[in-house]
Formats: sequence, structure tokens, C-alpha cells
Amino acid sequence: MYQAPRGTSDILPDEQVYWYYIKQQVADSCQRYGYQRIDTPLFEDSRLFSRSVGEETDIVDKEMYTFKDKGGNQLTLRPEGTASVCRAYVEHGMYNLPQPVKLYYLAPIFRYERPQAGRFRQHYQFGYEAFGDDDSSLDAEVIDMAWQFFRALGLNSLLLKLNSIGCKECRPNYLAVLRDYYTKHTGELCPDCKARLARNPLRLLDCKRPSCQQIARLAPKSVNYLCPQCEAHFSQLKKHLGRLGLPFTVDNYLVRGLDYYTRTVFEIQPEVEGGQSTLGGGGRYDSLIEELGGSPTPAIGFAAGIERIILNLKRQGVVIPPLPKPKVCMAHIGDIAAEEAIRLAATLRRAGISVVATSSGKSLKAQLRQANTLQVSYTIIIGKQEVEAGTVVLRDMATSEQQIVPVDQLLEQLS
Ligand code: HAM
Repeated sequence: MYQAPRGTSDILPDEQVYWYYIKQQVADSCQRYGYQRIDTPLFEDSRLFSRSVGEETDIVDKEMYTFKDKGGNQLTLRPEGTASVCRAYVEHGMYNLPQPVKLYYLAPIFRYERPQAGRFRQHYQFGYEAFGDDDSSLDAEVIDMAWQFFRALGLNSLLLKLNSIGCKECRPNYLAVLRDYYTKHTGELCPDCKARLARNPLRLLDCKRPSCQQIARLAPKSVNYLCPQCEAHFSQLKKHLGRLGLPFTVDNYLVRGLDYYTRTVFEIQPEVEGGQSTLGGGGRYDSLIEELGGSPTPAIGFAAGIERIILNLKRQGVVIPPLPKPKVCMAHIGDIAAEEAIRLAATLRRAGISVVATSSGKSLKAQLRQANTLQVSYTIIIGKQEVEAGTVVLRDMATSEQQIVPVDQLLEQLS
């Protein structure tokens, strides 16, 4: 028997109610904050991701699905959404549009990770990006949108964590201090962190091993090494967030798993602890567009994993509105009635009423059982006698009451 590949899953009809609900909230949020939809290809030139996400990140180092196509092009299934949107922004000359340009996406993402609860090899992300404005008020708006999105979904008990990791000017200074600090603790570091020390010292702050976390707790903080511009930006952002009433906490050791961030980084997590618990994260990436060949353009964005949202909706017992159900089930007994059922179902559907046909040859009892499972409001029952009389039996599924209705009055009655 074939099975879905490890780390992937089918989204079965029973789960679709969550996806429908979340997609509606995505559309509402983006409409409210003025973001327009963008869809980019599932795969891109591999170099787009190694240049943006960063050679030294786990994603590029070990998690990308990379392949050569028949033309010899090296391609990668997108391991995140930001790089593709940046590529599209530059490629389509969106810098000529009034700035900021605000775009969103909801797309499958591929990472070769070790599967576990909330961590998949294919997952979906809702993400959004705003280009062309470096003002801290835009950071506040982007963070506010993420927070309000989760609140509108009905998720409570969330934490909003915030940090600033500086810019091209001040970060090297901080990294040098951080490297010095960790060099003194090399002997106590896990093998991964030892390797990271030379290549990507920021990532040391993010190690989940208790022994490394203990060392991280006393490490120098990026906020103490910000240049005056970054410091002013961060302090204004905190004021904006305070005015918006967002309950953020500054987490001096919040760094993100992608290399393109500058200044603001933030994450939203459920209050309950858990390794794979982060619902979403984002931040500024003011140098990325230029690094990808565009003109210098500040930008900021956020993305959240849909599967993790669903996990949290279930954990928190959020009641999801049911999907719209078909209105009518068409049951019939005998050959003549089967023909009439096809005609009648078509007439009702053309008039905008949703009708599910049961399969022929089944007993009336079996057909009514199916109607119950489908949770329709009404079942139309026809047999030879009804066809001859030009009527149907209309059964109200909630009360089980039945009435005889002339066919020419059926539409009016159902509407
Ligand atoms: P990220 O933190 O790597 O950021 O991913 C965003 C979210 O996707 C995570 O917070 C998590 O909810 C979900 N996620 C990530 N990996 C997995 C996985 N293996 N299985 C299930 N869910 C997962 C980014 O990707 C950035 N592009 C976000 C961003 C947008 N920054 C600026 N703009």
C-alpha cells in the first residue's frame, strides 16, 4: 500500500472546516490592512534561497528539497515565502508603484525536517510582506495585524515576543562581542553550537539544549549594541505597540532561524511551552532586496504555519463555524423515479439550490441514512406514484415531518 510521504499529510474532508475558517480570516485580515494577494511558483532557482535565507542556516544547510530539472537547472521547492515575494517585487518593478507595497500569500512550504507534532516536511504558511518603508510605525502595524489575526481566530493565551538585532552597521560589532563570550565557553557547548560559533554566532542563542540555554542566559544582548538609529527605531516601535495596547515582552535572546533579518524580530507563541509551539514569526529585512539585485528597499513581514494554528485551535477548544451544508438530498425508488430525480435535481441546482443525489438501487432507509450523514435540511422522496401524480414527498430532516408538494411548487417551497 502506498502512503503519503513521511512528514506530509492529506487534508481530509473532516479537517477542511478548519482550513476554510482560517482562509476566511486570512482574507478578512488582509483586506482590513490593505494587503494584496500574490502567488509565486512552487520552486525557484536554488540560489535565491541560499542567498536570502543564508548558507549557514539549518534551512539551507540541511532542509531544502533541491533537484536538477531535465534542462540542468538547479531548483528548490520553496522552504519559505519571503524570498520568492522579494524576487517577484524586483522582477516586476514593483518599486515603481506607490510604496509601501503590501502583499500576502498562503502557500505550501517544504522543509526536510524531522517530523513530529507541529513539524512537517510539507506545511502551509500564511505570510505577508510590506516593502518600501522603514518607519517603525509599519513594524507596529505588521505586528498588530499578526496579533489581531490570531485573536480573530479565537486564540487566546498567546505571547508576543520582540527583539531588535541591529543592522548592517551595528551587528558586526555585536557579533564580535558574542563570539568572544562564547569562545570562553567552547568546552561547554554542544557539537552543533561549536560548529555555529565560527559560522553563525547569533544562532547559538537559539539552541534548545538546556546546557547551551544556560550559557545563552548570560550572553551579551543585541539591544546593548545597537547604533543610535536602530536604538531610536526600537524605542519608537515599543511606544507604538504600547499605544496599540499589544502585550509584548522584549526577549533579548530572540533570534530567528533565517539570516536576512535586520532590526525588528518578533514571534507569537502559545503560553504553554513546547518545542514546536511557535505559531508565527517575522521581522524586518532592510538589506535583502538590495542583496537580491534590487535597489535599496526596506521591508518587513510575517508568516504563520496553518497546521500549528489548527493544533492550537483544537487545544484551546475553539468552536469553528460549520461548513455550508448541501440543502437537499434526492431519494428515489424505482427506475421511473430515478429518471425524474435526475431531472428535478438539475432544475433545483440551476435555480441555485444545492442538491446531493443518492446512488440508485439503494433502499429508502439507506438513502435517508445517507441524507442524515450529509446533514441536509430536506430530503425529496419520489417513487412511481409521485411521478404519476406530479408531486414529491418533502421530508424535513430536523422534525421528520413529511408533506406532499406539487412539483411546480417545490422550488418556491424550498426557497
Ligand atoms: P519561519 O519562522 O521559518 O519564518 O516560519 C514561519 C512559521 O511557519 C513558523 O512560525 C511555524 O508556525 C511554521 N513552520 C515553520 N516550519 C514548519 C514545519 N516544518 N512544520 C510546520 N510548520 C512550520 C519564515 O518562514 C519567514 N519567511 C517569515 C517571515 C515573513 N519573515 C518575514 N516575512
